[in-house]
Amino acid sequence: MLIVPKPVQHEPRPGAFVLDRETSLAADPALGQVAAWLRGELAPVTGGELLPGGSGTITLKLGDLPPEAYRLTVGATVEIVAGGPAGAFYGAQTFRQLLPAAAFRKAGGGPFEVPGAYVEDAPRFGWRGALLDVARHFMVKRDVLRFIDLLALHKLNVLHLHLTDDQGWRVEIRRYPRLTEAGSWRKESQTGWDGPMDGRPHGGYYTQDDIREIVAYAAARHVTVVPEIDLPGHTQAAIAAYPELGNLDAPLEVRTTWGVGHNVVNVEDSTIKFFQDVLDEVLELFPSPYIVLGGDECRKDQWRASPAAQRRIAELGLRDEEELQSWFIHQFDAYLTARGRRLVGWDEILEGGLAPGAVVASWRGELGAVTAARRGHDVINCSNTSLYLDYRQGPGEEEPVPFGTVLALEDVYNFEPVPADLRGEPAAARVLGAQCCLWTELIDSARHADYMAFPRLSAFSETVWSPPERDLADFRRRLAAHLPRLEAIGVEYRHEEGPLPWQTRPGVPGRPEDPERWQAKLDAWTSNLRR
Ligand code: ACM
Repeated sequence: MLIVPKPVQHEPRPGAFVLDRETSLAADPALGQVAAWLRGELAPVTGGELLPGGSGTITLKLGDLPPEAYRLTVGATVEIVAGGPAGAFYGAQTFRQLLPAAAFRKAGGGPFEVPGAYVEDAPRFGWRGALLDVARHFMVKRDVLRFIDLLALHKLNVLHLHLTDDQGWRVEIRRYPRLTEAGSWRKESQTGWDGPMDGRPHGGYYTQDDIREIVAYAAARHVTVVPEIDLPGHTQAAIAAYPELGNLDAPLEVRTTWGVGHNVVNVEDSTIKFFQDVLDEVLELFPSPYIVLGGDECRKDQWRASPAAQRRIAELGLRDEEELQSWFIHQFDAYLTARGRRLVGWDEILEGGLAPGAVVASWRGELGAVTAARRGHDVINCSNTSLYLDYRQGPGEEEPVPFGTVLALEDVYNFEPVPADLRGEPAAARVLGAQCCLWTELIDSARHADYMAFPRLSAFSETVWSPPERDLADFRRRLAAHLPRLEAIGVEYRHEEGPLPWQTRPGVPGRPEDPERWQAKLDAWTSNLRR
């Protein structure tokens, strides 16, 4: 059975099902939204309406299973029994993959015959995520919706939307309109990592109605949209819009270059209040139980030079600027906790003490994941060396804008979400799952995003959904059947042999990393986690 991600268990069954215009679809009332979604996917394929009651019935039922688990039986009819709507949705996704790839086209085909089969399936991890950085390069709403469909196809259930950064603020906040009026546009962008300026304005943002639409669209596909408002670093766009948030007297522009910036917000009460006001609107827009407040790559030089920040350190009796960052993040942890949400931060939030309920998104290798889990924090493994989809996919010069160390398809496939150092320890249970990250400094179009994300995201889906055993040859065999599905959808994935001529971007400077030098840098950078 050529399903991606690989189901827990499956076997052939006698008989076959024929999907055609006469096919009908009946569902338990609690599964009505899943039925409506499946009808929407299959009606253009069959040319029929898939109303309840005709022949060739597909049925969706609730059964005594965990919420995300399902059993799929294909014979003369199709039956999906699920613990809840999510399980029924995943059963329906598996059923779609039993059809020929042509069934992923939005135009008639068939009738299609599906050989008899029985599948029992459930996910290994609860957090099966992908980060999309819409701050560095804005991605229009229709492309975000399409990305959500692609996550759902792979049974991923978290879209971490990186909404704010130095280079752009992408979510409308009614109370502070300049965040998008001024903060969502930059006058130009650096070409590649450190090339010349391109001289073209770049920007865009989601209105609150856009966000509500994205969140609802995702929810109907069992994807939770987890917003990130990055603090206290990565905030130059916000400071450009509201200079009183910064540490300097001189005004700033929305940033046009890449790399870790120096401009971070100040630690005034008014700044904390400002971002709590922002969060009031963010919480209204995003029902997610988790809210990401960044915490990564916050340079401390402006706080060192700021009399106000130094006064704050003295007043609070803090040891240093690391503890000041902890204190700052704690202000928001208490705020979120009081509203029934949980703070997620990148692993730097471990430096200088961390609020007890906070969740750590570990990205600088895996040390953060190990440290956080041992200290009793829930962890999402986002290891850059295994899951950063902006990293180049091959060693060649022709890789478009080569960045980072080489992260090949098989590297992602072989990734194990529970770090080796935690295996066998009770703390391993703290690993909620894993998340691949599509950062977009060097990815300026949905086409390039397709090239970077696929098929590595398909491999990633197995690491979080499927049982832990790996069989690369088996994966490649299933992937060979999966790529035509992606083609039918219109995904411009990377071919095994490398980029097609129009996928290269000759002359655009990247930032490839030597793996040993990179590991040494990571080790040095995370050394304070070893204390
Ligand atoms: C990160 O890559 N700064 C989380």
